[in-house]
Amino acid sequence: VFDEVCETTGVTLTRFMIEVAMLNPELSELPSLFSGIETACKAISNMVKRSQLTGDIGYAEGGGSINVQGEEQKTLDIMTNDVLKRALRFTGKLGVLASEEEDTPVDVEPTGKEVMFDETSKYVAVFDPLDGSSNVDAGIPTGTIFGIFDHDEECVVNDKDEGLTEAEMVCLTNTLKPGTDLIASGYCLYSSSCFFVMTVGCGVYGFTLDESIGEFVLTHPNIKIPETSKIYSFNEANLPQWDEPMRETVEKWRIGEGKSGNSFSSRYIGSMVGDVHRTLLYGGVFGYPSDKKNVNGKLRLLYEGAPMSYLMEQAGGLSTTGTKRVMEILPDEVHQRVPIVMGSKQDVQEVVDAYSAAG
Ligand code: AHG
Ligand code: MN
Ligand code: MN
Ligand code: MN
Repeated sequence: VFDEVCETTGVTLTRFMIEVAMLNPELSELPSLFSGIETACKAISNMVKRSQLTGDIGYAEGGGSINVQGEEQKTLDIMTNDVLKRALRFTGKLGVLASEEEDTPVDVEPTGKEVMFDETSKYVAVFDPLDGSSNVDAGIPTGTIFGIFDHDEECVVNDKDEGLTEAEMVCLTNTLKPGTDLIASGYCLYSSSCFFVMTVGCGVYGFTLDESIGEFVLTHPNIKIPETSKIYSFNEANLPQWDEPMRETVEKWRIGEGKSGNSFSSRYIGSMVGDVHRTLLYGGVFGYPSDKKNVNGKLRLLYEGAPMSYLMEQAGGLSTTGTKRVMEILPDEVHQRVPIVMGSKQDVQEVVDAYSAAG
């Protein structure tokens, strides 16, 4: 009977994570962390889908609520941020989290009692609760992006009860880690289907929400991005401002004079999660390069660039600033932006070569 039930329900995300933990004892806390994240994503999927009916659309406080990025927050930016913080808090596994919608990292305690960092609350979570939120009122796909870091081993807390020293607080609320320190990352895409795509460092696995059983079911085992492609995905309005190597490469792709000889077409929805998901499955090059107005582009390193680069690399793709591997950049500021070009290995390599040829 057990087999029949499994084949009927398919491999759920819950079962998948339990199997990961059984094979990797050092990840034994991840299933409950992922359970919190997946529950939050199911709730967010509902909120986004119903927002036109519940009136949870438009800008928060009539546009008066500005986040640390200087963006006018959508009502759903704030609501989804709260859902994720709460879901993560009640896993009891988190020490601290950073969010696009939080000015500074938030230390997380299950019951709100004073900060008590012990062995279990050892993870650091970073997330973009609603990516592409400028699109949400028009029903264009949006998503949630998350990354999980282990905490700093040397962050040893004094076990006396006189509270934490300043140094301990700084150390324990430190979310500034390079992508190479990620132990897991992923996204949830709210589109024609609700997709949950993740990695724990041994390939990329995609799950689709089966609403009849309320479970994410494995539909895309071991995603590998095509080595080369015919799609580029940028906001081309900025092309005249791009660095020359970037501009020249795209202009060659347009007329089939790139390395692959392919004539590219352009696909861009303005939601990173949707553009990256299509890039992973169909191949392509997605990016937000540096330009004269924004030398660091627009995408934030900690909770957009690094988690998505981890997935891209695990799927056999590349992710670069043009001159540096995104995964290796150590952020010195939570909301630091970084130029990003990611996707099919051969095509992204062409961009890297163009930058190095330009010196
Ligand atoms: P967010 O909605 O989380 O602030 O992110 C929006 C980002 C990203 O999703 C997308 O790729 C990019 O902004 C689009 O920027 P432009 O509208 O400038 O093209
Ligand atoms: Mn935003
Ligand atoms: Mn975003
Ligand atoms: Mn966002």
